[in-house]
Amino acid sequence: MTRDHDVSSITRRQVLAGAGGTGLLAAAAPISARAATRSTAAAAADGTPEQIHLTWGDDPASSVTVSWASPGPARRPRVVFRHAGGGSHVVPAAQRVYTDGINGETVWTYHAELTGLRPASAYGYTVTADNDTSARPFAATFSTAPRGRQPFRFTSFGDLATPNTQWVLSYGQSAYAVAAVESFRPLFHLLNGDLCYANLNPTTQPEVWRDFGHNNQASAAHRAWMPCLGNHEVEFDNGTQGFTSYLTRYSLPDNGVRGFRGHWYKFRVGSVLFVSLDADDVVYQDAAAFVAGPAPLTPVSATGNPAIAPGTSFYIRGYSGGAQTAWLERTLATARRDPSIDWIVVQMHQIACSSSATGNGSDLGIRQAWLPLFDKYQVDLVLNGHDHDYERSFPCRGFDSMVGTEVATGAPVQTLRPHPVTTDDTGVFDTSQGTVHLVLGCGGTNANLDDYGVDTADGLRQAKVFTKPNRPIPGAAAGTFTRAAADAVEDAPWSARRDTSTGYGIAVFDVDPGVPGGHTSIKITQYHALGADPVNPATGAAGAPTPDYTEFETFTLIRPRSDRHAGHTAERSSALA
Ligand SMILES: [Fe+2]
Repeated sequence: MTRDHDVSSITRRQVLAGAGGTGLLAAAAPISARAATRSTAAAAADGTPEQIHLTWGDDPASSVTVSWASPGPARRPRVVFRHAGGGSHVVPAAQRVYTDGINGETVWTYHAELTGLRPASAYGYTVTADNDTSARPFAATFSTAPRGRQPFRFTSFGDLATPNTQWVLSYGQSAYAVAAVESFRPLFHLLNGDLCYANLNPTTQPEVWRDFGHNNQASAAHRAWMPCLGNHEVEFDNGTQGFTSYLTRYSLPDNGVRGFRGHWYKFRVGSVLFVSLDADDVVYQDAAAFVAGPAPLTPVSATGNPAIAPGTSFYIRGYSGGAQTAWLERTLATARRDPSIDWIVVQMHQIACSSSATGNGSDLGIRQAWLPLFDKYQVDLVLNGHDHDYERSFPCRGFDSMVGTEVATGAPVQTLRPHPVTTDDTGVFDTSQGTVHLVLGCGGTNANLDDYGVDTADGLRQAKVFTKPNRPIPGAAAGTFTRAAADAVEDAPWSARRDTSTGYGIAVFDVDPGVPGGHTSIKITQYHALGADPVNPATGAAGAPTPDYTEFETFTLIRPRSDRHAGHTAERSSALA
């Protein structure tokens, strides 16, 4: 594939932290798409599976979906799987195809849902097609989830990118991050948004996704990787919300909401309900696809799509018309009535509680739409990406009113600041009393560690907060446009811990179901990759990607088991009957 310029020297901070960065990107990046360079004839003949990755089906104890892509259309694409000591089963794959709306390249993907599997069991599988040109079909193994209250491990980070440094925001740490997931051998991984930044490489989006898929396969072919949408999954000319690349490549549990399958979903493992949300639907921040100018973004003529004018941003706040929030409330209410569910863990990309000063910060949109529901239904843990750092909040419930300050005027402004139920960092937190938020935008993106906010007046931690849309405004150079940083600040007593030594890491979660009548716990360890930052935040020296992840901190969440009173309830019911 060809490119007009190498823009890999543009850092994530320049791209993400407000206006100047996006202007820079537009000035340097190629903006006229070229037709796909791959030979159509060769691609048409090649159904070799690549970018193989697993996701959970509707029930992780009994269903797993195998997804992949191939250079051209596959003939009779299929998965053959077998249980240890059992016979082979052949599952035909469904084909999903899209044509990128900017460079006109067609992407062929395949999805086979394996159902009727046994809980906590290992399976071997192969992926192939009649026009698979590999010497031997791809083969790997996976394990299904346990059923009932059982211990298990999962991992998480966001903002992964690819190891191909041709692409804006890609960096070698992306490969080590995938290897880190494998090294911890989790049951599954939560990839909390901004997967590969294809929308910052708008004329080569399918190629960026392809490098992302190749990189992830080293882990995602062996265990489910469950993603969520971030601002960088929003792509011009690829669907109503710009999600066609993501939605075509991932097969995710059905949320039952017509028109929005794959946008948000839930699944359950053991006594934990996992809820994956699309915060693009509620955030004020405008940080998705954007043409900063001065040149327009011009799709190839074959797409039939017109040039996209400078100053255009793809802003999708409110796109579900409240459907996602209504689904969330139904989901949370049902879960909290279920005595077999103890924990509710939410993943979403953008952040309610981030005190990053040079990155994005917090967003009032999430605080307005979803934190009241997290309070009402005792959501235990929220996992985010978006800012390139690691930050942990104290458990929070409710809010402190009118304690924000508008940056432009110094006037008081409502930020609905989450209220910490304790500021004593004991290392053990009862999340039935408040929700803990983690920022895990520490995957593999090419970026230096964010600076964290400090209120210079009192020395306390300070957070930036978006309280209104930062839509494009004219930039400094003629014909360019920019998007402003967050419009408000607040002191941040909810902030418990920030990693000031590196912006790279992975969080490892070990669920202990506990015993009947007692508490259950999740032990959380953040491992970080010291020295991986392009510029070391402590020394200023140049760093390099590293495979070495070491412990940064460990803490434990506890809550009473939900079956505590189930026995009493059952006795009372039988007495009444
Ligand atoms: Fe983001």
